[in-house]
Amino acid sequence: MAEKDILILAIESSCDETAAAVVKNGREVLSNAISSQIALHTLYGGVVPEIASRKHIEKINQVIESALSEAGVGLDDITAVGVTYGPGLVGALLVGVAEAKAISYAKKLPLIGVHHIEGHISANYIENKDLEPPFLCLVVSGGHTHLVKVLDYGKYEILGRTRDDAAGEAFDKVARAIGLGYPGGPKIEKASRNGNPEAITFPQAKVRDNPYDFSFSGVKSAVLNYINGCKMKHLEIVPEDIAASFQKAVVDVLVGHTIHAAQETGLRKLAIAGGVASNSVLRSSMCGACEKHGIDFYHPSPIFCTDNAAMIGAAAYYEYLAGTRHGWDLNAVPNLRLGER
Ligand code: KG4
Ligand code: ZN
Repeated sequence: MAEKDILILAIESSCDETAAAVVKNGREVLSNAISSQIALHTLYGGVVPEIASRKHIEKINQVIESALSEAGVGLDDITAVGVTYGPGLVGALLVGVAEAKAISYAKKLPLIGVHHIEGHISANYIENKDLEPPFLCLVVSGGHTHLVKVLDYGKYEILGRTRDDAAGEAFDKVARAIGLGYPGGPKIEKASRNGNPEAITFPQAKVRDNPYDFSFSGVKSAVLNYINGCKMKHLEIVPEDIAASFQKAVVDVLVGHTIHAAQETGLRKLAIAGGVASNSVLRSSMCGACEKHGIDFYHPSPIFCTDNAAMIGAAAYYEYLAGTRHGWDLNAVPNLRLGER
């Protein structure tokens, strides 16, 4: 390790993954340890906050040890500790925040609180070494759907957001309705491979006063109404066709709004982020649209799209360079807004 290398130990525990990573100089991931609770929450059809917090407490030390040993470093080599402090489940966030505070206090290291969505956006820096702001980023996760102008590192302008359900939330709800279970996104994607995306036309809601805002509760209700209609008329329900047609409706809106924003803002670089960004139909559709419009398209590998700590390390590095330092009063902020400190 060179003397001037900046090594961030990053911690993420905002929802159902306990994760730690060591990231060198913002873009080189030396380790990325993740302990997923998905199998546990599947039993209940969704994330149970109380169970999530307890599991984080059980796993966090092990996950941090794995991250350090996989990276071949010790705490003495670390420059700063980065941690997600919001938004997310308060009890889950608190585990990571308390752990990060304990380590940075004991080792006298700078403490950097990171916004979870800033982490998702920064996941794009890991594999795209040439990507620098400004660019446009579509953030689509289980809790958020944001169309963001990344003005500079750590500087964001939100162009559009969802008015109701997040894109991932819609995937999860529709998956439950057609009996695929949790987590919905990957299950819908898998089922859709054997379905016809043109089988059913689901509505693509437009929000009147802002062309960049999204609304997904309409398409979700349309799926529920379609299922009820089929049941009443004793018509066959083909979950694969519903999955493929729903996915197409969501992807078309996401791609349409994002390309429109790229054209209006004149930004020629476009990135995607968040769990839904691992969806292969969204990725290929966005890629095709970017090619058609002469826009450079960036996306993280699927492992860096869903929750992980490497992305928090990338974001923490740029916050570190910008001088962001948090005190021992750092607290979990469940509804933290992007751009807030
Ligand atoms: O970013 P993430 O891991 O956690 C949050 O910050 O919310 O995103 C999780 C969301 C879930 O709603 C999940 O169903 C969705 O991302 N997701 C997907 C896919 N993989 C995960 N949605 C569509 N297609 C996928 N392949
Ligand atoms: Zn996330």
